[in-house]
Amino acid sequence: MWNIEEFVEAAGVTVEELAAYVSESQRGEVPVLRRRPPGELAGRLGIAGLIAEGGLTARGYRDFLRAYLAEGTRLHHPACLAHQDAAPDFPAALADFVHGAANNLTAVYEMGAPATTVEIEVLRWMLAKVGFPRGGGVLTGGGSMANLTALLAARARAAPEAWEEGVPGDLVVLAPPSAHYSIARAVSILGLGARAVVPLATDGLGRVDVRRLPDISGKRVMAVVASACATGTGLHDNLRAIGGWCRERGVWFHVDAAHGASALLTDAYKHLLDGVDLADSVIWDAHKMLGTSSLAAAVLVRDEHALDDAFRQEASYLFYGDQGFDLLSRTLECTKGELGLKILLNLAWRGERGVGEHVARRYESAHRLWELAGRREGFVLPYEPESNILCFRYGTSDQAALRERLMADGAFYLTSTELGGVRHLRVTVMAPATDDVTLEALLDEIEARGKVSIGAD
Ligand SMILES: Cc1ncc(COP(=O)(O)O)c(C=O)c1O
Repeated sequence: MWNIEEFVEAAGVTVEELAAYVSESQRGEVPVLRRRPPGELAGRLGIAGLIAEGGLTARGYRDFLRAYLAEGTRLHHPACLAHQDAAPDFPAALADFVHGAANNLTAVYEMGAPATTVEIEVLRWMLAKVGFPRGGGVLTGGGSMANLTALLAARARAAPEAWEEGVPGDLVVLAPPSAHYSIARAVSILGLGARAVVPLATDGLGRVDVRRLPDISGKRVMAVVASACATGTGLHDNLRAIGGWCRERGVWFHVDAAHGASALLTDAYKHLLDGVDLADSVIWDAHKMLGTSSLAAAVLVRDEHALDDAFRQEASYLFYGDQGFDLLSRTLECTKGELGLKILLNLAWRGERGVGEHVARRYESAHRLWELAGRREGFVLPYEPESNILCFRYGTSDQAALRERLMADGAFYLTSTELGGVRHLRVTVMAPATDDVTLEALLDEIEARGKVSIGAD
């Protein structure tokens, strides 16, 4: 049984330590990340002793939590410019806390009626945003799982016999090489084999070239995939043109909008999703631009039955009679967490407009970085950003080595990616704390470290 007094004390410690952690992170007064080797870190955190001896108290917990947080990667830090993971807003963090204690589940309605109801209502809101009035959906553990689930629904449509008899050898999926790697993985997992992914022709920046969509007569196309936006560049495919082409041919159109769907909440950027309503399936990660912790992603389908048709299973303790509001027939997961609550609480606290503002401000910051870099010598900017992701180069030296130097003392955290076979620095603006001062400091630092490197790499 819980000792309630002990819980209240420990929860108070958690709130105090997290408040201090987020506060110092947002002010950027500490390194954005540390990368101590795991052996050293395990010693520093006293993990072996904690496991062997137990008996942690609120005081010991405070010390542990403080050290644990200090060694981590600070997503609220202005210089955290790396991956597409949210700097979670606090209402969503509260939802995670609630889930951690109440553990209401969402696969079977009776396991958590409010949790499931919240999920159903959040999905209804998302379906309305993408323009699926008769659609269905489910929340699942991340964009990769969501892509797999959506493509399973596409397989059930193209080859309903596949569940019982295995996958026919002639199914293909058309996708740009810039699509997230989880698409190719899903195709393999679904039994088509990685060679079933037929690359769509693209322009020099990896966007589907809609003038060169292929002749598919004689091919059994399971799905056509487009990105909104592409992970590497943050650029969007032309959904209206590709969607119209799919409609004319009766082909399943899947839009991976894991990152970009949240722009539907903005006036300034929702045009980037124009045509998303032509899709048969869309995925939308909340843990990217809706400001929730990982994991929370939606699979949304135009036809509300498409997900239920995708899964067939027998487990007499769960599946019998009318499934009512049960979600387990739509998802890979059996036990499934209350993912809707963190999306709901962010919306309830900030309003749809407030969440949309968050998206718009981050997109504007990336654009600002592009403008500022363009005023300096030595920066190569291959495109104007459409979202909060921007790729660029500085000088001609090894950009991966330059990135390492920028990160060496924890001053900045950014990523790199290949564009047209050439490695570029890649920045994703996720944290509300990132401002013009951060962006100028980044460019100063790149110049300083990049100049040092010329000739050395
Ligand atoms: C376009 C796109 N799709 C899918 C994913 C995979 O999402 P997750 O990391 O939640 O599995 C990502 C992640 O970066 C993405 O950018």
